[in-house]
Amino acid sequence: MSLFTIEDRLYTHLLLHFLLFRTHSVCFLFVLTVPASFGDVSYSIPEELKRGSVIGNIAKDLDVDFKSLLDRKARLNAEGSSKRYCDINMNSGDLIVAERIDRDQLCGEKTVCNLKFELMLESPFDLHRVVVQIQDINDNSPGFPKDVIRLEIRESAVKGARFPVNEAHDADIGQNAVQSYTLQRNDHFVLAVQTNIDGGKYAELVLEKELDREEQQEVSLLLTASDGGTPQRSGTVVILVTVLDANDNIPVFSQAVYEVTLPENVPLGTLVVTVSASDADEGANGAVTYEFSRISNEAKHLFSIDRKTGEIRVTGPIDFEEESSYEMRIEGKDGAGLASQTKVIVDITDVNDNAPVIFVASLINSVPESAPPGTEIGIINVQDLDSEGNHPVRCSIQGHVPFKLKPSVKKYYSIVTTGELDRELQSEYNISLTASDEGSPPLSSFKILHVSISDVNDNPPAFDKQSYSAYVTENNKPGTSVISVRARDPDWRQNGTVFYSLLSSEVSGVPVSSFVSINGDTGVIHAVRSFDYEQFRSFKVQVVARDNGSPPLSSNVTVSVFITDENDNTPQILYPAPLGNSMMTEMVPKAAHAGSLVSKVIAVDADSGQNAWLSYQILKSTDPGLFTIGLHSGEIRAQRDIAESDTMKQNLVVSVKDNGQPSLSTTCAVYLLISDNLAEVPELKDMSYDNSSKLTSYLIIALVSVCTFFLTFIVLIVVVKFCRRRKPRLLFDGAVAIPGAYFPPNYADVDGAGTLRSSYNYDTYLTTGSRTSDFKFVRSFNDGTLPADQTLKRSPQETSELGEMTGDGSKFSTLVKLPF
Ligand SMILES: *[C@@H]1O[C@H](CO)[C@@H](O)[C@H](O)[C@H]1NC(C)=O
Ligand SMILES: *[C@@H]1O[C@H](CO)[C@@H](O)[C@H](O)[C@H]1NC(C)=O
Ligand SMILES: *[C@@H]1O[C@H](CO)[C@@H](O)[C@H](O)[C@H]1NC(C)=O
Repeated sequence: MSLFTIEDRLYTHLLLHFLLFRTHSVCFLFVLTVPASFGDVSYSIPEELKRGSVIGNIAKDLDVDFKSLLDRKARLNAEGSSKRYCDINMNSGDLIVAERIDRDQLCGEKTVCNLKFELMLESPFDLHRVVVQIQDINDNSPGFPKDVIRLEIRESAVKGARFPVNEAHDADIGQNAVQSYTLQRNDHFVLAVQTNIDGGKYAELVLEKELDREEQQEVSLLLTASDGGTPQRSGTVVILVTVLDANDNIPVFSQAVYEVTLPENVPLGTLVVTVSASDADEGANGAVTYEFSRISNEAKHLFSIDRKTGEIRVTGPIDFEEESSYEMRIEGKDGAGLASQTKVIVDITDVNDNAPVIFVASLINSVPESAPPGTEIGIINVQDLDSEGNHPVRCSIQGHVPFKLKPSVKKYYSIVTTGELDRELQSEYNISLTASDEGSPPLSSFKILHVSISDVNDNPPAFDKQSYSAYVTENNKPGTSVISVRARDPDWRQNGTVFYSLLSSEVSGVPVSSFVSINGDTGVIHAVRSFDYEQFRSFKVQVVARDNGSPPLSSNVTVSVFITDENDNTPQILYPAPLGNSMMTEMVPKAAHAGSLVSKVIAVDADSGQNAWLSYQILKSTDPGLFTIGLHSGEIRAQRDIAESDTMKQNLVVSVKDNGQPSLSTTCAVYLLISDNLAEVPELKDMSYDNSSKLTSYLIIALVSVCTFFLTFIVLIVVVKFCRRRKPRLLFDGAVAIPGAYFPPNYADVDGAGTLRSSYNYDTYLTTGSRTSDFKFVRSFNDGTLPADQTLKRSPQETSELGEMTGDGSKFSTLVKLPF
């Protein structure tokens, strides 16, 4: 194959060569040979002949007599061109150069350059064509379009890269045109010559050794183009190769790691650090821009970087407590995208910007007041976000409260009580806690804990007074309020709610509740019944105040109720018998002297004091002036000696009056008989009932006798009985014996010492039959039950006892009215 190809090429080459050579020889042949037939003639001349140079003898060549030329008015007309390059010498018939002929100008690149003329002859008219062939001479040097060829080659161009250079131009053609190029010796390029399609030759710079802009920015080369003429001509051009920067250098940071410290809370805009990278490349390739290449989301909001200057500034609040160090990567990138990275580590330093915070881990809101000292009521935790020296925290309680802090594990403290609590003194506390750190300046924080003290029923109700005294006038209406007691309990709610009640006790054997009642809520004591001073004068009630706590607390107080007297009792005559029809008569000895005691009116008043202070007066008498009565003693005495002439029977009406307001009084009649012997009284019947019948008188006498006997008998029995026990106390000195049965009710029993018994006596009335058995008898309620009211109630046993007493009539007490 390759052999074939070579043969083919050779053949083609030979062929071409032959053809060219023939053409030349043919032309040459024409110049040399005789002009062609048909009257045409052709010449070949080199260009640039001097003016006047003879090209050839045209007359001779056309076989025309040169002497006839003038006559035949020979003219040379140039075909298509205005310029006359040639002319005819009429005298010699020579064709001469009339003008400078520059082939390169006339025909340029054309290989054949002909000047065509017509030679016109007249008489006879003859026309000949004349062709003058202009041959090239090497009269031009190769030249380049510009003096300096500027090439811009990127330094990144690889070995073998080709850079065509403008073709050199030579106006000549053929061998005289540019045939070769030479390149001045240099380090980087060699030359390669190429042929155009049109046969022109041009040079290419072939990169032999890579360029480095950073080493040599410009390479200057001298290119010479030479033609093939003889002598050879050449032209040169300077090739200025500008080495274009290839981005072959990466930016280089001044530090691989930038480590800076930054206090927290620095103002926005503070410069943190400036990173800088240098890039050996130029222009855009060397212009480094900076940006974060790897940065946390948090840091993104806190730092910014200036693209151009590499200044990193603060754009957000820097908080040590949030992050103590930031690390970011920064990329420095040149215009063409080559990049390198550096690392910036920002260590944040702590500033004491966080106050300690007090957390309440637990708290008993309501502490019972009974909690003993040392009771833990809560736990707090103190935290400070700052670190190191800003961290240690002191915690304390302000003010005077019975609480203190007890350090517990780590930053925990327990709040414990330091003393007894008393809700009634202080029911709540505001514990103000202070925590301060040791930074400078120190920061502190406060917290107020509200602790309320819950109630414990620790206070019994307390009465306003140690004891109460109430005064009630007798004969009060049932329901009257007697007194109001009050007890206070400082405890809370039900623990402090006081209820009053009476302590069940007995007054002379009767439950106290039948005397008074108390309003449980208000403490007002009411009388349940009407009191009778003559029955009892005072009694005591225990009032209990009890709170509603659990267990309840109580206290008691004594209320003494004093019943005050009212003049509600008229004096009662004990002797003489008050009944008007009684036949009691006092014997007055006839020999009685003035001043001798005749009789005595005995009266009592159940009231006391002035109400019972009795005074006696004789209202009416048979013989006024014979008897007087002691104003307060009631003793009736003879005022003068009894005379014979005095009426035997003397009647006195005596009034007994107490000193109450208003005073009450009663009257009685006293019958006196002046006689030494009862038998001497014949008209006894007249003493009493003057107008009664004899039968009635006898009956009366009989009755009086029986009565007198009976009374005497009773008196005797009583006297005997009491003498056996103790000497009975009689009201007066023995002149008249007063039967106990006649004493009115409601009198105190007297014992030997004459003092009032501690308990009052209650009397009962027996109403079992005849009037004569209508005695009073007294029983102590100490040994029996108390009638709730005036109605008699008694047990069967008592009733039988009473029956016995009634039966033999021997059980009577001697009653004495005592002055109080
Ligand atoms: C505690 O503080 C509250 C308000 O914060 C106040 O009403 C109350 O009176 C205070 N109590 C004491 C005992 O200081
Ligand atoms: C009353 O006191 C008891 C303890 O004695 C206590 O448990 C209770 O909570 C108190 N009641 C009030 C209403 O404070
Ligand atoms: C009444 O109070 C006294 C002390 O004040 C106490 O000793 C007594 O036991 C109390 N009585 C009753 C019945 O509670």
